[in-house]
Amino acid sequence: MTKDKVKFVCENCGLDLLKWQGKCPGCKQWGTLKEFKESKVKNNRSVFLQTDEEAKPLLFKDIKEQENNNLTTGFKEFDRVLGKGIIAGMAVLIGGDPGIGKSTLLLQLAINLAQSEKQQKILYVTAEESAQQIKQRFNRITGVDLDLDNLLIYTESMLGKIISNIISFKPMLIIIDSIQTIYDSSLESTIGSQSQLKEVASKVISVIKKYNLSVFFIGHITKDGIIAGPKVVEHMVDTVLYFEGDKYYNYRILRSIKNRFGQTNELGIFQMTHKGLAEIKNPSKFFLGENNQEINGYAISAINEGSRTFLVEIQALVTPTSYGMPQRNSVGYNVKRLNKIIAVLEKRIGLNFGTQDIFLNVAGGMKIDDPSSDFAVTAALMSSLTNRNLDKSHCFIGEIGLGGEIRLVSAIKSRINECEKIGFTKIFIPFTKENIGKNRSEIIKIKHFSQFIDYYFN
Ligand code: TYD
Ligand code: MG
Repeated sequence: MTKDKVKFVCENCGLDLLKWQGKCPGCKQWGTLKEFKESKVKNNRSVFLQTDEEAKPLLFKDIKEQENNNLTTGFKEFDRVLGKGIIAGMAVLIGGDPGIGKSTLLLQLAINLAQSEKQQKILYVTAEESAQQIKQRFNRITGVDLDLDNLLIYTESMLGKIISNIISFKPMLIIIDSIQTIYDSSLESTIGSQSQLKEVASKVISVIKKYNLSVFFIGHITKDGIIAGPKVVEHMVDTVLYFEGDKYYNYRILRSIKNRFGQTNELGIFQMTHKGLAEIKNPSKFFLGENNQEINGYAISAINEGSRTFLVEIQALVTPTSYGMPQRNSVGYNVKRLNKIIAVLEKRIGLNFGTQDIFLNVAGGMKIDDPSSDFAVTAALMSSLTNRNLDKSHCFIGEIGLGGEIRLVSAIKSRINECEKIGFTKIFIPFTKENIGKNRSEIIKIKHFSQFIDYYFN
């Protein structure tokens, strides 16, 4: 009997080692290396390239480009996150917290495709719910007892049976809900283990690549926010998507983390309704809300996520500390960046926050990584400290340097464009020699935050 090859794979960064160590040399995390049995490989050729014929070297000029027969998901937001919709032979992993709406999103995708003109055959494999539960969800989404001749629901968890059904039906799209609940009975390891995940993914991927079909795997996320046993599968698929949301809000964000066919960090915004997920068609001002009142400490910024601009409202509250150490509290914005901005305001502008509590909040539950919101954060802090309102029709774009200078950020023209579409009248941007072009709004170029104070507060 040949022994399985044993490796140790880091759950955090995916590094594999032959010997166990307490600390991963890759990401320096402790206790993340897990034993991982690699099953015997019968065929040395890559699982992704298995075809019946032997591959042979081809002359470059003889290689034909793949025909462009992408399919739309029926959601513009979903298509843009994927890049160009669904491409034949594509393998996608979609991860997200339990209950966020992964099964709903992919069932809607299946319904859209099954209803499309091309009448594609779809196989929805579920090992988590009964066919009746899927039917209930289906009726809730469609609102009617619709007959779809080409949507197949298959409640099965054994990989072998699933593969033989894929081969006999050759559905254009296969949805696996979820990858952690499917198992290969030829492996001894338990369901959901790393070796099972790897085997399930590699076998399904090799079949879909062979017949030029597409697959979406649903994956669960662990407490730490990573898809359980993720790295082994993330390396194997073409595209990794995360479906995120906040339990207090009904919007959902679909984000691409890895994408062989499009841009990463692209966002699609959806809203969970009583009839499934609805895409938000014009999401740039979605996070602004309906508040038209002017309140001190509120400032609007235009941030870029993927190829799109979103307008967000930064809310700051600066209030005297009543006892003990002053508090620094931030939701949706990195608290270290907040501390940096406070330090800049104290050292470069001469303001004093030493006896003030500071609360910062990005309205609507949005989480910001883009440093271009620094200017708005700084303006909001200044506004709350001085009890002076910032105009609701003004927008603040720029990064703050340690010297208090406002630094240029990427894609300034497209941000201005988006602000103007929504009707902002004055846009404060970093100083640039670049010609910003003709504008409907007034563009104010600022070099240093002190210059902004002179302009706005004096
Ligand atoms: P689900 O797709 O089962 O989540 P996941 O597969 O990620 O675990 O979604 C479950 C939640 O979505 C559940 O709380 C009910 C809610 N929901 C709606 O609000 N409206 C709907 O039309 C549907 C189908 C679900
Ligand atoms: Mg589910």
